[in-house]
Formats: sequence, C-alpha cells, structure tokens
Amino acid sequence: MTAQLIDGKAFAATVREKVATHVARLKEEHGITPGLAVVLVGEDPASQVYVRSKGKLTVEVGMNSYEHKLDADTAEADLLALIDKLNNDPAVHGILVQLPLPGHLNEDLVINAIDPAKDVDGFHISNVGLLGTGQKSMVPCTPLGCLMMLREHHGSLSGLNAVVVGRSNIVGKPMANLLLRDSCTVTIAHSRTKDIEALCRQADILVAAVGRPQMVTGDWVKPGATVIDVGINRIEKPEGGTRLVGDVDFDSAAAVAGAITPVPGGVGPMTIACLLANTLTACSRANDLPEPEGLTA
Ligand code: GUN
Repeated sequence: MTAQLIDGKAFAATVREKVATHVARLKEEHGITPGLAVVLVGEDPASQVYVRSKGKLTVEVGMNSYEHKLDADTAEADLLALIDKLNNDPAVHGILVQLPLPGHLNEDLVINAIDPAKDVDGFHISNVGLLGTGQKSMVPCTPLGCLMMLREHHGSLSGLNAVVVGRSNIVGKPMANLLLRDSCTVTIAHSRTKDIEALCRQADILVAAVGRPQMVTGDWVKPGATVIDVGINRIEKPEGGTRLVGDVDFDSAAAVAGAITPVPGGVGPMTIACLLANTLTACSRANDLPEPEGLTA
C-alpha cells in the first residue's frame, strides 16, 4: 500500500472532543444543554444498533439524549403527533427519525414534518433547497463528515476534479453540492454512466457511495487521488463468517491512491460525530449564539 490512510476513527474522536468542549461552555456560560431526540419505529436490528450507539455518544459529549421507541405498527398520525411535540419542546434542539421506516409510513411526509431548524439529518426539503442554493442549512451528516476529512487532508479543495459515484439523496447529491460549494469541478456518476472507470480516473477526489461491495477497483483510481469510501457492506468470507467492506476494493485502490479512508474506521465514525456537531449547531442557532467553528460546512 502506498496511500496515506485517512483515519476517520481518530478524526471523529477529535470532532467529538471539540463538541464536548463547546457543550461544556454552553452549560457553564448560558445554562443550556443541547438535546437530541432520536425516534426509532420498529425493531430493525441494524437500526437498533445505530440508535444505541448514537444515544451513548450523545451522553458522552454532555448532551441530553431522548430516545423514543415506537411499535412497528405505529399509525402515521401518532408518529406525526410525536414529531409535533418534539418540534415544540424547547429542550430538544435536534430530531432524528431513524430510517428506513416500516412500509406503511410515508418517509417524505414524516421527514418534512420535522422543524427544519431541528432537522439534524439535513433531509427536510427546506434544508435540501438551502444547501442546493448555497445558503445556511442543516447539512446531512455523512457528506459533512467526508467534507471535513477532505478539508483536513487537502486544505483548499478549489479547482480539484471530484467524482461522486452514487446519486442518493442522503449522500451522493448533498456531497456533490458541498464539493461544488468548495469550488471543485463535480461530476455525479451512477449505474447508467458510460465508461465510468475512465471518468473516475479523472478524479482528484473520488467519493464512492453506491452500496455495492468493492465495486471501485485500483484501475478506476488516478494515481495520487484521494478516495473516500462511504460504503458499509457485509460480505461472506471464503473461509466462513462475514466481514465489513466498503464500495472500494481497498487493497487495489490503496496501491494507486494518494490517500484513502478504510472500512470500517473511515466515514462511519465521522457520521455520528457530525450528528453531534449538527445538534450543537442547531442549539447554538436556536439560542442566537455563535456557531461552533470548524464543525459546520
Ligand atoms: N439510517 C441509516 N443512516 C441514517 C441516517 O444518516 N439518518 C437517519 N435518520 N437514518 C439513517
């Protein structure tokens, strides 16, 4: 391997420390404790793990964590009533409804019922529009984490060629908007893109967010490029059991890239750290206090 490893786990710990310092100051100087409400509907095992981990880290940085666990067959009206209550609760500065929701619930309707100022996922249509037009918004956590790592590694991103593989609303599209805002030349590639390998080989920054295990191999990577792997896929090992891999074939890509994020330990830990950063930002804005530096887009 010749690439420098971008250690998302260590970087996320630094972000969480910064958040904790700001939270302590908010408490001491203003008597305010940021609060994050997480709503989980149903018993999806992966979602339960995420929610538990979010709750634990929220408390670790000194914030209040409010968990709301609802039955899988909860009526949409009851979920919307809970969101309305959280919207109007001054102790709650951030609201996250864990996705995916059970099939009978309309995800768009539910997400757009959250007060945009408390939408720490940045999924509300108002925040999507504000980000797309370069205005102050809440920014989705995963792309924000990727941006922080890229800025830390490169300093300025201005003029760099960036290719984002994947066009999801959660990662691909907001990632492209953030890179554009930092003056990259941005292309979004997807399943219908022609000669995707050649396109990716033009990229100084290559972000893989497609959900297909090890799709991006070393021959897609420009020598010296920075590769950010957003994928988390569980695959079977030849010798039995399973392991986590990204959307990038790490070994072949790391032999060509200048820098690369590992899976696990890259983008994943940064996502939760950015959720905490967004909750702090939402709390600061709600109280007309300065936003924490280096923790926003
Ligand atoms: N499920 C998987 N990732 C996420 C996320 O970032 N936010 C929410 N709300 N649900 C998710």
